[in-house]
Amino acid sequence: MTSSTFPPGPTFKSEWKRPFREVSEEISQGLLVHVRKRFERFGDIYFLANRTPVYVTRHPDHVHEVLVTRASSFKKRAQDLDTFLGQGLLTSDGELWRKQRRLIQPAFSHANLVRYAEVMVDLTQQTLAGWRHGEQRDLNREMMELTLAVVCKAVLDYDARRGANDVVAHAMSVLQGTAGLDVLPRWLPNPIHARKKKAADAMDEVIYAIIDERKENPGDDLVSQLLAGTDGEGMERQQLRDELVTLFLAGHETTALALTWAFFLLAQSPGEEAVLHQELDEVLGDRPPTFADLEHLTLPGLIVQESMRMFPPLYFLPRVAKEDTEVGGYPLAAGSEVLLWIYFMHHDERWFPKPGEFRPQRFLPNSDMLRHRHAYAPFGAGPRACLGKNFALIEAQLLLAAIAQRFRVRLVPGQDVKLNPRVTLGPRAPIQMILEARRR
Ligand code: HEM
Repeated sequence: MTSSTFPPGPTFKSEWKRPFREVSEEISQGLLVHVRKRFERFGDIYFLANRTPVYVTRHPDHVHEVLVTRASSFKKRAQDLDTFLGQGLLTSDGELWRKQRRLIQPAFSHANLVRYAEVMVDLTQQTLAGWRHGEQRDLNREMMELTLAVVCKAVLDYDARRGANDVVAHAMSVLQGTAGLDVLPRWLPNPIHARKKKAADAMDEVIYAIIDERKENPGDDLVSQLLAGTDGEGMERQQLRDELVTLFLAGHETTALALTWAFFLLAQSPGEEAVLHQELDEVLGDRPPTFADLEHLTLPGLIVQESMRMFPPLYFLPRVAKEDTEVGGYPLAAGSEVLLWIYFMHHDERWFPKPGEFRPQRFLPNSDMLRHRHAYAPFGAGPRACLGKNFALIEAQLLLAAIAQRFRVRLVPGQDVKLNPRVTLGPRAPIQMILEARRR
């Protein structure tokens, strides 16, 4: 235990003494700059003496402590996502979470992943068939539509692109657009909440219709499996709905962002792009990639990992202490919050030399560029680590390979791409790409 009870941190007095211009500039530059400067001032862990005490850390040992070794002393922080996701895996806690996780885990078995891989490549080929050389498109939006289609088809056998006004796609985009903004109390007339509710109701209608149909005619899909249950005790309709919505949300935006940033980085790294193309040409030639090819493809995996290091889609993870505990040697009272800054852990020179440079090779086995075994955590860690990690890694590699095999992504010149740190780490404005066909 350290000698002081609290980590250092800003106090009313210390902030008040700083020139107003310095503080206001820092805040106006955005959340990431603000937090980075605080780490520079106070070190790896700092303390905010708010009404709820907050501990903010970027150190891999602290992250590991909170997520893994002391995981049972912490719970997730309630977020505004709850109203949309209900009691799905991402938001639930305790016994309910444990039971649901056990039930849903088999959906990500090896056999199922092989099956899903086919869906991933098929849907990518369908998308690519609509792309034309020289065309300009919104990179992030293309990735969102594709990854949503993949997860809907894989999990629900639902075709999310049956029309431009697809209700599931619409609901997901409303949820993403309003994430973090729906903070007013429910009893106040609230247009954001009303919009979310309308989109969620329309989506629920579709989902419940599918659930009811599978109840009548069970197949070997995930919905039928969850309805039947492993021990004859199937999932309730409402619970199943919550889990499916959770999988749609957790399972598409994150992967879409990983791909968006991967293409964004590749477009600015001609050397890395050339090596990727060479490998794709050698291993695949003209045929689309398959699950089995992943064993022989190195670059897509390295690129995806490095992109998620530089731009982790879930860039900070909040937790609340359920009981009195500690972190980094500091005692923590029950109810305190801990913010784990994955983004700053991934950008720390001590663990990742030249952290601002896109260097996929740092993820090669035996690379001496990974200097702390807990410093890389795009999927979290411990019991609440990402359930879809393998699904996501397979999907990101296959989609990257299938797209890069056919098209070079160029960025429309003059774009000032800025980060938009909300629930996930996306771009502030659409990233416009120009497609260049590799084979015509
Ligand atoms: C690149 C893509 C992805 C990234 C970076 C990612 C990241 C994460 C992270 C960091 C967590 C832990 C959150 C926390 O500790 O607070 C998480 C949880 C979760 N993820 Fe993912 N994820 C991705 C893709 C997916 C996919 C494809 C699925 C499902 C199809 C999925 C389903 C889930 C679920 C259900 C949880 C909650 C697990 C639990 O609490 O038991 N994720 N994800």
